Amino acid sequence: MDRQTLIRTAIETLPSSYVPYSHFHVAAALLCRDGTVYTGINIENAAYTPTICAERSAFFRAVNEGKREFDAIVICGGREGVITDYCPPCGVCRQVMREFCDPKAFKIILAKSETEYKEFTLEELLPLGFGPEDLGRGN
Ligand code: THU
Repeated sequence: MDRQTLIRTAIETLPSSYVPYSHFHVAAALLCRDGTVYTGINIENAAYTPTICAERSAFFRAVNEGKREFDAIVICGGREGVITDYCPPCGVCRQVMREFCDPKAFKIILAKSETEYKEFTLEELLPLGFGPEDLGRGN
């Protein structure tokens, strides 16, 4: 799937965000290795801490469906659903990506529109991250 289509999918998902507290809409479109795409939105909660980010929504939907290999994620967001700037993933979401993705290969695409976007590897946004391999090293 090309970047423009993945970006369009994320942007089209933005209105579904459930954000009665922050009014900050975030949406993600996660591309699996097999070519399928899972979208995610942030879902807030009156108790605040149960809130889940759009990126983790997308990952958990995909992992629930048996997906384990991923190539890229598009993230977009903005107050009242209006995209004015890039929306970088929070630290917790970066760590969830680290569980399933190759830091050197997985692409994180921050999008303002189909033509205006920035692309990073997971390693660039989470250098020296702790991953599944580290548990087996005994360090
Ligand atoms: N949010 C995300 O969905 N993804 C991020 O990586 C950053 C923050 C959401 C959580 C909350 O609903 C709102 O943005 C404001 O923090």
